[in-house]
Amino acid sequence: MNDKYVAAIDQGTTSSRCIIFNEAGGIVAVDQREHRQIFPKPGWVEHDATEIWSKTQAVVAGALAKAGLRADELSAVGITNQRETTVLWDKATGKPVHNAIVWQDTRTAALCNELGAEHGQDRFRDKTGLPLATYFSGPKAAWLLENVPGLRARAQNGEIAFGTMDSWLIWNLTGGVDGGRHVTDITNASRTLLMNIESHQWDPAILSALGIPEAMLPEIRPSAEAYGTCTGQLAGVPVASALGDQQAAIFGQTCYEPGEAKNTYGTGSFLLLNTGTRPVPSKSGLITTVGYQIGSEAPVYCLEGSIAITGALVQWFRDQLGIIQNAEDIEPLAASVEDNGGAYIVPAFSGLFAPYWRSDARGVITGLTRYVTKAHLARAVLEATSWQTREVVDAMYQDSGVQITDLRVDGGMTVNNLLMQHQSDVLGVPVIRPVVSETTCLGAAYAAGLATGVWQSTDELKAHWKKDQEWTPRMEAQTRDREYANWKKAVERTFAWEE
Ligand code: G3P
Repeated sequence: MNDKYVAAIDQGTTSSRCIIFNEAGGIVAVDQREHRQIFPKPGWVEHDATEIWSKTQAVVAGALAKAGLRADELSAVGITNQRETTVLWDKATGKPVHNAIVWQDTRTAALCNELGAEHGQDRFRDKTGLPLATYFSGPKAAWLLENVPGLRARAQNGEIAFGTMDSWLIWNLTGGVDGGRHVTDITNASRTLLMNIESHQWDPAILSALGIPEAMLPEIRPSAEAYGTCTGQLAGVPVASALGDQQAAIFGQTCYEPGEAKNTYGTGSFLLLNTGTRPVPSKSGLITTVGYQIGSEAPVYCLEGSIAITGALVQWFRDQLGIIQNAEDIEPLAASVEDNGGAYIVPAFSGLFAPYWRSDARGVITGLTRYVTKAHLARAVLEATSWQTREVVDAMYQDSGVQITDLRVDGGMTVNNLLMQHQSDVLGVPVIRPVVSETTCLGAAYAAGLATGVWQSTDELKAHWKKDQEWTPRMEAQTRDREYANWKKAVERTFAWEE
């Protein structure tokens, strides 16, 4: 019998990837290409959505060639994507009307302050699970409608389509101007600040507060469902899943039971806890978000701790300070000293996300004395990731009462042993990395395979998950508590710099 193959497209913040998986959930081939990061002004970050679509086509072709497969040998293709990044395009020409505004972009700070002037930052939290923040898509779309001449009238006439990257890719994959399907999945919709988290519909009162015409919005669909059939290079292959990348990661980590959690370490880090089929509101600075929805089953919710800067701090240490040559040099440098020498770095480069949501925060280094060397700073860089994670784990406990008993991890930084050990030390629980650490693509492939009968159930997927490495806590509780108090003091120093 022939093996079945599922392709996953991961349209990320810095690159697009295509990974082809076999029926056992093993990787058959990978192709990846970076796209341009466009910084028109301080705090602004844009992507060219047309470039992203052509890079996506290139990585699909690349992965098929490396696998030695034809498109018609794929059972399905699944999508996962950087979340919140917003593109508006002309339905008749298929051309974006402006560069996509990226999730990290802070241009909507004034708009968010204005929207929250009377009722505060939590004005839409009951309905959407989200605070009013520059991070989410709705304010980005509102900014475009306000600032691209003539756009609002065209949007009201139904000429313009709004999308996060899942919508943009599905529309293009299924025919584009020749009948492409304009849909989004429920996980991506839950990051717009426009979807009601209970009804799973666009919320008319919020649309009106932000001045967004419903005519431009995609239809909200489950995460695992055959949305349509590809034309072009993947002609005939069903597009059968879409999930935001962090939701795809929790799906790929097979955290299908309430109380199971994962943390993905990339540019930033995103810790998601499965809370089951009821949304748990956060009072501690987390986000309530949709985790996934398989076909017509009830959606599964998550609490999320979104940390904007973790791996990006290592890049900054390398590129802006020039202290290391390559990202992997940080581990031996940090390991050359016993501890951080008293130094703490809080990387509030674009304000702080969870649990603070402070756009006025800016980064600080505290505890400097002449004793501190670049090796101590390297340690402080790594520790910033684990302390930020500790803060969101504490917030999860406060919100849900769930005390995690271990943490599944994935993403680029999990190759760093020193960091993973420190993470386990400061959480006081084991940290576990699976054999397939490409969990984002794996999750999208799993969802697409479930929708098309490649796999029958989540139990079957759970059986694929295998542990690669586990780190267990070694730090004494007293040391941990003292250092955590120092970290918190350092965080206090980041506030009230500027908006
Ligand atoms: O919410 C933003 C997140 O989805 C970005 O993930 O991995 O593309 O940096 P990544």
